[in-house]
Amino acid sequence: MDYNQILENARKNMGGRCLVCKECSGVGCKGVIPGPGGKGTGSSFARNYLKLQELKINMDLIYSKSSVSTEIELFGRKFKYPFFAAPISAVKIHYPGYFSEEEYSNAIVFGCKAAGTIGFTGDGESKDCYTSGLEAIKLTGGWGIPTIKPWGVEDVISKIKLAEQVGAPAVAMDIDAAGLPVLAKDKEICPKSVDDLKRIVESTKLPFIVKGIMTAKSAEKVLEAGAYGIVVSNHGGRVLDHTPATVEVLPDIVKAVKGKMKILIDGGIRSGLDVFKVLALGADGVLIGRPYSVAAYGGGEEGVALYTEKIGAELKQTMVMTGCSTLSDIDSSKLWQG
Ligand SMILES: Cc1cc2nc3c(=O)[nH]c(=O)nc-3n(C[C@H](O)[C@H](O)[C@H](O)COP(=O)(O)O)c2cc1C
Repeated sequence: MDYNQILENARKNMGGRCLVCKECSGVGCKGVIPGPGGKGTGSSFARNYLKLQELKINMDLIYSKSSVSTEIELFGRKFKYPFFAAPISAVKIHYPGYFSEEEYSNAIVFGCKAAGTIGFTGDGESKDCYTSGLEAIKLTGGWGIPTIKPWGVEDVISKIKLAEQVGAPAVAMDIDAAGLPVLAKDKEICPKSVDDLKRIVESTKLPFIVKGIMTAKSAEKVLEAGAYGIVVSNHGGRVLDHTPATVEVLPDIVKAVKGKMKILIDGGIRSGLDVFKVLALGADGVLIGRPYSVAAYGGGEEGVALYTEKIGAELKQTMVMTGCSTLSDIDSSKLWQG
C-alpha cells in the first residue's frame, strides 16, 4: 500500500462528504456538518490552513553532519514523533456507511502505536463514541488518550475513572464542544469555571489536558486550575466561524504559559513542514485531525501507520535542511522573519 492508494480507497469509503481533496484546506467541504467541514462559511478551518502555508522556513546546510532524532517525551511516555492523531468521533454520522465507531478507534489507536506515536480518541452523544476508544486503548495496553466532552463535572469525573481503568497515560476534555452544531442542543454540554476545572484536575492522578484554547487569558485560567496542558484548537473550525487561525494565536499563548504547562496545537497541520513550523513557534506537541481520518478510511491501521511515517519523514527531512538534530533545536530562528 502507498499513500496514493490510501487516498483512492478513502474516496470510495468516506461516503462523499469528505472529498479527499489533494489539499485538505477546508474549501471543498465548507459548512459540511455532519461531515468534515468548518462551521458556517468555513472560514476558521480555511484560515488555520492558509496561515500555516504563509510561514516560511530558513534553510541552513552549513554544519557538521549529525544524526537527527524526532523523539519526544510527553505524558510520561516516549514517542518517536511529536505529533499525534486528534480525537475524531461520531464517524457513523460524519462519514456514514463504512466504519463502526469501534473499527475507526481501532484503526487510529493501533496504527499510531505501530508507528511509535499515540492516538487521541473522542466522545459524543451516543455511548459507543467514548467506549469504543476506551476499548481500543485497553487492547493496546493503554496506548491512547480519551477526550471527554464538557458534560457536567460529575459525569466528566466518572468518564475519567473509566480512562484510568484502561491504562490511558493522560486524559483530555474538548472544552470548545459547546459550539458543536450536532451537540449544542444538549444542555449538559457547557463551559467550565476555573473551580470546575480544579475539581476535575484534582479528581485524577492522570495528566489532564484542556483542548480548545484560543487566547492567552484562557490558557492562564487552565494553568490556574492545575492542568498538565492545553491544546490550542478551534476544533478544526467546527465550533465558531470567523476565529483567527490557531497558529496566529499560538505566539501569545506561548508567551503566557510556555514552560509552565505543555502546549499542544492543532488545525490545518498537513505536513512535517507544518509540524516543524508550530514547534518553532513554541508548541510542545501537535495533533492532526482530518488527514488521519483519511488514512484510516483508506488503509485502516496500516494506513494510519503509513501516514504517520510519511509526516515523520517530512519532519526529519526539514530538520536536516535547517540544521536541527533534536526537537529542542527547532526554535523561532528557523522561521523566516521577512
Ligand atoms: C468529523 C470530526 C469529528 C471530530 N470529533 C471530535 C471529538 O470527538 N472530540 C474532539 O475533541 N475533537 C473532535 N474533532 C476535532 C479534531 O480533534 C481536531 O481538533 C481538528 O480536526 C483539527 O483540525 P484538522 O482536522 O484541520 O487537523 C473532530 C473533527 C472532525 C473533522
